Amino acid sequence: MIPAVATISSHSALQILKGARDEGLRTILLCLREREELYARFNLADRVIPINSVEDLLDKKVQSELLKENSVLVPHGTLISGGKLEEFERSFEPKVLGNKYIFRWEYDRNLKDKLLQESGLNVPRKLKSHTEISGPVIAKLPGAEGGRGYFIAKSPKDFEEKVIAVRKKGLLKKGEEDKIFIQEYIIGVTLYPHYFYSPLSHKVELLGCDRRYETSIDGLGRIGAKDQLDLDIIPTFRVIGNTPMVLRESLLMDIFSSGDGFVAASKRLVKPGSVGPFCLEMICDEEGKLFTFEFSGRIVAGTNLFISGSPYSDLIFGEPMSMGRRIAREIKKAAELGELDKVVT
Ligand SMILES: Nc1ncnc2c1ncn2[C@@H]1O[C@H](COP(=O)(O)OP(=O)(O)O)[C@@H](O)[C@H]1O
Ligand SMILES: [Mg+2]
Repeated sequence: MIPAVATISSHSALQILKGARDEGLRTILLCLREREELYARFNLADRVIPINSVEDLLDKKVQSELLKENSVLVPHGTLISGGKLEEFERSFEPKVLGNKYIFRWEYDRNLKDKLLQESGLNVPRKLKSHTEISGPVIAKLPGAEGGRGYFIAKSPKDFEEKVIAVRKKGLLKKGEEDKIFIQEYIIGVTLYPHYFYSPLSHKVELLGCDRRYETSIDGLGRIGAKDQLDLDIIPTFRVIGNTPMVLRESLLMDIFSSGDGFVAASKRLVKPGSVGPFCLEMICDEEGKLFTFEFSGRIVAGTNLFISGSPYSDLIFGEPMSMGRRIAREIKKAAELGELDKVVT
């Protein structure tokens, strides 16, 4: 029996539902009550299960509905940012697309760094203490969402002053200074390739690439250098939206070997490895060298740009293939082969 696809009403839900429907799979929306009307406008769910918050996924009644429907939950960013990942690992019984054990590695900055290092990627250097700062660094605050309050510093003194400033803004609690993640700042172009690893074909596919548009850092270029200095701005990195990106063709070699390296390392460190969609967050410097500073072990919102396909998905499939649809196709194919266990945990 081909499973139904279930997801939570946020992030990339519309794309996931549409992709499942395009593949002829039944769709189930776990819908936050205040959003029922919004999602009804798109009419992509065959069944709606109302929930009050993401935590309701741990509710036995919700889970038994999902089990009855023989559904596979497609997880996205909302699940990860909701925390409680260990509890989710332990007590969520319905099938989850991909590897649910990798979400904790995505959430925890030190585990994340370990997996990226193991993947053989160039990762920007991590500093043990702010006293080591001798060139530009980016300071990432603990628990900050979407880069709020992250800042750039160029010396230990500069760092200390900015810590005081973010504390005043209420973005850092007293005593949390030690938890700030300090990393070498790479000057270049950010890029976020969207990958899909199929355990059925053992191949890593590139389905698209985007850039995140982040405020205020991406708006600074509109202010003249002199005014920037006068205004004494601390740039931040809160994602506002995504723009599509097509890469120089010569970069594709590195893009693929990075994806392959990540899948191989995840198989060693977090069994069964990265399965299905993932994203590497990269910066390309002036020499064309790629640095990877983060990953997402599930679908990213940047894929919403490509609901009817991207230049890369077109090259591979020759038909509109969003990440949501790619996921549904893998579930369908695995179920038909009797190998669903390979694509869910
Ligand atoms: N080492 C780095 N060099 C330059 N810019 C960076 C670096 N690390 C992160 N950034 C910028 O900061 C943003 C947020 O950092 P990230 O590590 O992705 O944190 P978050 O967990 O909030 O997504 C990135 O999207 C990127 O624009
Ligand atoms: Mg990020």
